[in-house]
Amino acid sequence: MRRLICAGNWKMYKTAHEAADFVKIFLPLAAAVPFATEIVLCPPFTALAAVSHLLTTGRVRLGAQDMHWERSGAFTGEISGPMLRDLGVHYVIVGHSERREYFGDTDAIVRLKTAAALENGLTPIVAVGETLPVRDAGNTSEHVIAQTRAALEGLSAMQLARIVLAYEPVWAIGTGRNCDPAEANKVMSEIRSCVPGLDDVPILYGGSVKAENIAAYTAQSEIDGGLVGGASLDPAVFAQLCIAASASVSS
Ligand code: 13P
Repeated sequence: MRRLICAGNWKMYKTAHEAADFVKIFLPLAAAVPFATEIVLCPPFTALAAVSHLLTTGRVRLGAQDMHWERSGAFTGEISGPMLRDLGVHYVIVGHSERREYFGDTDAIVRLKTAAALENGLTPIVAVGETLPVRDAGNTSEHVIAQTRAALEGLSAMQLARIVLAYEPVWAIGTGRNCDPAEANKVMSEIRSCVPGLDDVPILYGGSVKAENIAAYTAQSEIDGGLVGGASLDPAVFAQLCIAASASVSS
C-alpha cells in the first residue's frame, strides 16, 4: 500500500525564528494526526537547521525546496545534496513550477536534480503540472507525461521506487481555484502509468489545497496526499489539514 503524505511547502515565507515558533506549536498538534500519515515540512534553506533541531522525534520529516545537482563547486548561492543531508533533510522538492517559471529550471535540470537527490540519499518530490494555456489547449496529459518522463529518464527501478511525485496544476497554485479531484485523479493515473515502476510511488496533489478540500483528494484512488503552500503556514490550519487528509487511512 502506498503511504499518505502531507507536505508543507513554505516557499519564501518564515525566518528561522518564525519557523521555530511554528514547529513548537505544531508538534503537539501533530500528535493528533494518525500515525500512518507522514508529515513533511519544507522551510526555506535558512530555516532548515532551526527546524531540524526541533524535529527530534522523527514524527515530522524535514524537506528542502530545491537543491543543486553537483555535490560541491563554484556555484555561488547554491545548496548541494550533502549540505542538505548534513542538516537532517529527508525530502527535496525538485521541478516546482515556480522554479521552472522564474529560475529557468528546464526538464533537463529537473532530471539532474532528481538523480542528484537520489544519489545523496534524499527523496525527491518531483513536481509536474500544466499552465492554464496548456490546459485550455487540451494538452494537459501530453505536457505532464513529457515532464514526468524527462525528470525520471535513466533512473533504475530501485531509484524509481524511492521517489515521490507531485501533480500541481500551475493555474491552481495560490489562486484558490483548485482542480476538480476527479480530474486530478485522472491526470495522476496517466502520470503513474507513463513510466513503468510507479505503481507504489506516492503522488501528491498540489494547488489551493485546504483543510476543507483535502479529503476529497485523498479519497481518490491515485492521490496519496497533498503538497500544500498557503495552508501550511499556520500550525493549527496545517494540523487540521493533516487530520482531514487522513480520513481515508486508519489511525
Ligand atoms: P498553494 O497551496 O498555496 O496553492 O501552493 C501550492 C504549491 O505550490 C505547493 O508546492
